[in-house]
Amino acid sequence: MKGVVLAGGLGSRLMPLTAVTNKHLLPVYNQPMVYYPIQTLVNAGIRDIMIVTGGNSAGDFLKLLKNGKAFGLKHLNYTYQEGEGGIAAALSLCEDFADGAPVCIVLGDNIIEGNICQAVRAYRHQGGGAKILLKQVADPQRFGVPEFEDSRVVRVEEKPREPKSDYAVIGVYMYDAEVFEIIKTLKPSKRGELEITDVNNAYIERGEMTWNELKGWWTDAGTFESLLHASRLVAETGANKMESVNANHA
Ligand code: DAU
Repeated sequence: MKGVVLAGGLGSRLMPLTAVTNKHLLPVYNQPMVYYPIQTLVNAGIRDIMIVTGGNSAGDFLKLLKNGKAFGLKHLNYTYQEGEGGIAAALSLCEDFADGAPVCIVLGDNIIEGNICQAVRAYRHQGGGAKILLKQVADPQRFGVPEFEDSRVVRVEEKPREPKSDYAVIGVYMYDAEVFEIIKTLKPSKRGELEITDVNNAYIERGEMTWNELKGWWTDAGTFESLLHASRLVAETGANKMESVNANHA
């Protein structure tokens, strides 16, 4: 399985912090934001990793990460997203890199307390299709939100005004090589982006989507509030732990 960290986009919700630099280079407590999603993949045993970046300071990723020595890697792959076409558009740049293998994607501003080892193991056994990770949240309106029938996810809605559950689809996705064909069929959403939620709904319609609930805390860091919250969580409890963490920790 190959890994992808999506660190493109313009970070406009963090202006003026992102006026001259890239959101994913900003500090979250004691590390640059992009360190956390890379560590999440490495902890799950995924060592062949592509960083998709774009916007400001794209070259600084190379200066910062080099060949990934800080993560025990020998090599990192990089690609450049022009503009801000959406998460699925950023992922589409990884088709050649994936080369038919399944991919695990982590959004560049997503940070977790624990690890995704169990979910990655389960996905490997699944033998194709897709897997999303869910987490109960107080503010589902900010995220992709699953709708359940019994314990099955029957649809995901992107930032719904009236969420059908209090779960968020977190920014960790596992897909087989079909994902690149699905992305080619997508149309831009109202916000002008190719949405990862539309990719997830395509897998749900095919009956090829499974989900796991993430243990330990999860946060994004793309707004002033969540960036501060992320720094506090990391300072207080640490991130990317390999030991098991409490499932109910908020
Ligand atoms: O954090 C989880 C949420 O992330 C999910 O619940 C949503 O379903 C999903 O759409 C996404 O929502 P956001 O609106 O918060 O995504 P945002 O635009 O902040 O992008 C998240 C990361 O994705 C960003 O840190 C870098 C990457 N990205 C985003 C865009 C729009 C790219 O690499 N390229 C892009 O064009």
